[in-house]
Amino acid sequence: MRIALATCREVPGLLDDEGRLLEDRLRARGVEAEPAVWDDADVAWSAFDLVLVRSTWDYPTRHREFLAWADAVERVSALHNPASVLAWTTDKHYLLELAGTGLPVVPSAVLEPGSDDTDPAAHPYVGVEHVVKPCVSAGSKDTLRCGPGESGRSAAHVRALLDAGRPVLVQPYLAAVDEVGETAVVAIDGAPSHAVRKGALLASGGGLVEGLFAPEDISAREPSPAETAVAAHVLEHLATPMLYARIDLLPGPEGPQVLEVELAEPSLFLEHAPGAADRLADAVVRRLR
Ligand SMILES: Nc1ncnc2c1ncn2[C@@H]1O[C@H](COP(=O)(O)OP(=O)(O)O)[C@@H](O)[C@H]1O
Ligand SMILES: [Mg+2]
Repeated sequence: MRIALATCREVPGLLDDEGRLLEDRLRARGVEAEPAVWDDADVAWSAFDLVLVRSTWDYPTRHREFLAWADAVERVSALHNPASVLAWTTDKHYLLELAGTGLPVVPSAVLEPGSDDTDPAAHPYVGVEHVVKPCVSAGSKDTLRCGPGESGRSAAHVRALLDAGRPVLVQPYLAAVDEVGETAVVAIDGAPSHAVRKGALLASGGGLVEGLFAPEDISAREPSPAETAVAAHVLEHLATPMLYARIDLLPGPEGPQVLEVELAEPSLFLEHAPGAADRLADAVVRRLR
């Protein structure tokens, strides 16, 4: 059996540490895993029994191309997660859908491009500390934290994103993250596996991330009962058990709120949880049968 770990060319060595760990655990199970660059036209995706999306972090400005790639791969191999799931999870409009089902979600407003009279300052979080980010984003890129008095900086960033044809998400800045951090709950084959704490990534007055992603401060964390419950509700909302899923939660005023449901290319923090890489490798092997 041979599988591809889909990645992008900017990743040094094409795989990060957890990609190499997974490669190792798969090899121990008789599965040859190799990195393959998603937009490399020379890759024969049909030669793989399964294609696992892992570190394709350069797609946000080429979203349509990325989704077309996923559709094409799915026609010739087994793609995880499936193309329809990748389409859903890579566009944070899904936060509005989740909020509509009653799940606690970080309050979110979307500004759509294409309308000349969209006022970039006319969103509900003007006047409070807030975050402006593209709906299609990864690695905190193009994500700006703006103070209550920074409406000019905020509006300029909204305008720049809209002018680039990118829908914009605006959220209040949930400041408890500065102390408590973010909780990422990882599920493998639909079942919660482990969790980590991620330190706050956006500095007050900070600019935009350069490079592929913002450096992250990660440590193991036992999720609270409330976090476990919200993550379980999100997993229930997903129609089928995903090979892998990561649910990111921020501390809100009344409990955890969903920041992100990462079903495309999440770091799964396998090296922070004993047994996690083996659980994922086992789940991959089950899908190969
Ligand atoms: N509303 C918010 N309140 C506090 N921090 C936020 C908020 N939105 C984003 N952040 C910070 O920015 C980071 C990146 O934002 P996120 O929504 O996870 O997008 P990405 O898809 O780029 O990971 C988060 O990990 C968090 O540290
Ligand atoms: Mg994130």
